[in-house]
Amino acid sequence: MIPRRNGRLAPAPDEPTVLGARSRTPQPRNGCVWFVGAGPGDPDLITLRGWRALQQADLVLFDSLVDVRMLEGLSAECVYVGKRCGRHSMTQEEINALLVESVRSGRRVVRLKGGDPAVLGRVGEEALQLAERDLPFELVPGVTSATAVPMLAGIPITHRGLADSFVVATAHRRSKEMSLSIPPFNPETTLVLLMARATADAWHTALVVGGYPSNLPVALISAGSTPEQRVVVTTVADAFSDLHAADLPTPVLAVVGRVVELHDQLGETRSPSKTHTTAEIAAAAVGNNGSAGSPEGARPIFGFPTGDTNAAPQQVDTRSCH
Ligand SMILES: C[S@@+](CC[C@H](N)C(=O)[O-])C[C@H]1O[C@@H](n2cnc3c(N)ncnc32)[C@H](O)[C@@H]1O
Repeated sequence: MIPRRNGRLAPAPDEPTVLGARSRTPQPRNGCVWFVGAGPGDPDLITLRGWRALQQADLVLFDSLVDVRMLEGLSAECVYVGKRCGRHSMTQEEINALLVESVRSGRRVVRLKGGDPAVLGRVGEEALQLAERDLPFELVPGVTSATAVPMLAGIPITHRGLADSFVVATAHRRSKEMSLSIPPFNPETTLVLLMARATADAWHTALVVGGYPSNLPVALISAGSTPEQRVVVTTVADAFSDLHAADLPTPVLAVVGRVVELHDQLGETRSPSKTHTTAEIAAAAVGNNGSAGSPEGARPIFGFPTGDTNAAPQQVDTRSCH
């Protein structure tokens, strides 16, 4: 039985004290992996449990949607393993092998993924690699962009009276043979589309085929929760052309449904976003030089970032935080 001191459980004789000061001899440690959701972008939106895991890690493998400010001050080695615009810094097989090898060699690893790792984040595939080998891991959920990014733009996705359910879907397909899982129109359901920029053609066609009214509001939100957040409010009819006219930088998601109307009242004052109406976008697309329809014409008027979205992310060569 463990003795008690002052009503508290005393540490067992061979356990380190709370501050680890009992012995300076390094204790052999078991390796493990925390799969952690980093949240939608703003570093403040990681969970406390995720943050604590980062403090204890000696290796962090992070993806492209993770804000590197979250890694500042960590003692861990931080390695970028993400992919951007189809370019992989490491293949999925290499990441899986690195996780297994790291745990076996006693390293404590945080596998840090954007949003919630279980939402289009492949956490299951990576965790299965460890589960099948009986290696320890912990799943730490995150704040998903699917709900948080609309909310930060003043769009609560199940506002009473406007929607009582939501669907999160993507028009991204692993192969052309796969069908899309975008449901037909239901006036009480908000549709949140992830990977919206790369797949705009496919989801826009699916909305039309699925009977979504042409005047139903759509919000296109880029870099939600960050100072670069942009919101374009448009309609089903104009969503595709407006997305291209605005040239929104990735990541972009689309919210489709009547709840988008709330953005006018809730979005402006409480978020750093800049909002552009369809009329503004049309005016910008015409531009001062009369270059109708040119996305280039849109930029100077609204000051959209001119960053090359095909460029490699800044942290792509990061092998260590120190
Ligand atoms: C591969 S999915 C991963 C989603 C992530 N696991 C999550 O829970 O947010 C990536 C997509 O999430 C959306 N996304 C993630 N972060 C975003 C942000 N800050 N602003 C807008 N969309 C975002 C975009 O649609 C992006 O293409």
